Amino acid sequence: MTKRAVVAGIGHYLPERVVPNSEFEKSLDTSDEWIRARSGIERRHFAAEGQTTSNLATQAAQAALDDAGLTPDDLDALIVATSTADLTFPSAATMVQAQLGMRQGFAFDVQAVCAGFVFAMANANALIVSGQVKRVMVIGAETFSRIMDWTDRSTCVLFGDGAGAMILEAQDGTGDNADRGILSVDLNSDGNYRDILYVDGGVSTNTTGYLRMEGKEVFRHAIEKLAATAATALGKIGLSGSDIDWIVPHQANIRIIQGTARKMGLSMDNVVVTVQDHGNTSAASIPLALSVGKARGQIKTGDLLVTEAIGGGLAWGSVVLRW
Ligand code: UT7
Repeated sequence: MTKRAVVAGIGHYLPERVVPNSEFEKSLDTSDEWIRARSGIERRHFAAEGQTTSNLATQAAQAALDDAGLTPDDLDALIVATSTADLTFPSAATMVQAQLGMRQGFAFDVQAVCAGFVFAMANANALIVSGQVKRVMVIGAETFSRIMDWTDRSTCVLFGDGAGAMILEAQDGTGDNADRGILSVDLNSDGNYRDILYVDGGVSTNTTGYLRMEGKEVFRHAIEKLAATAATALGKIGLSGSDIDWIVPHQANIRIIQGTARKMGLSMDNVVVTVQDHGNTSAASIPLALSVGKARGQIKTGDLLVTEAIGGGLAWGSVVLRW
């Protein structure tokens, strides 16, 4: 008998305010046409004033609990992947724990920027397969609108706010690839690339800072590293791209998504794409895409999925799971 971390529920929350590309034409030398052509983004959601990352995360978590037919009392742990927590501390996760009314278990944040949800799923999986917990709420939630330089057209048109949440639960499997749940994980980082995607401020420097990115450089790394991490995770369990039903990629740029699918030998018919509606929501993008993909009827019980993401660090990785 092998313990598996199986998806028991999924949900998401997007702030009400939807901002189309045309909105940026009023204040920047940019166009709807450029943003669509270079990134695939058509619109994004921005949090309202006073609406924080833990608020978005709590709404997504509640949606996941509803989907699973569970209550906060059923959870043993709660992990939030975010780079935009409400405060320096306590963690966004403990804030969500309180907002849900969850009094037991433990909660903590994971910070791996856009790859955060993949790293958080890997943590949850380790807690479950080692027998330490039975059920983990894993959330990706961000308010990147708070770290945008609104005068920098090369970054501020690309990002959005949102949250997605997944409940992983311990179930007994047979140990082969037919099992439901997380089947394989691959994580990587290389801090030598810190200068191509970062925020130029932080607590220890007594500053706030804005997101800075050398887009072309990040792009250059993205397709190659994403296809490689997916191949590594699949290879660990004797599979390859042709075995999977869905790639659920980090939603940063449609050209990266297409290039990665091509490298993995898959057509876009096998890819869940939400970048046009959400923009890049960093750690929230994969759970948002999973939730939307399920709601659209694309992802079904028993499907084999690869999720993959890359972001600041650089940090990148992938998780193979059967839904
Ligand atoms: O989630 C974390 C990972 N992040 C990513 O994966 C992002 C990776 N990078 C990208 O998605 C792309 O590199 C971008 C979408 C950021 C940029 O696309 P690109 O095709 O690499 O464009 P570029 O940076 O080479 O810029 C081309 C031109 C430049 O003008 P010149 O120098 O050719 O005259 C830019 O100044 O486009 C200009 N440009 C813009 N023009 C209109 C840059 N931003 C804009 C804009 N509107 N918003």
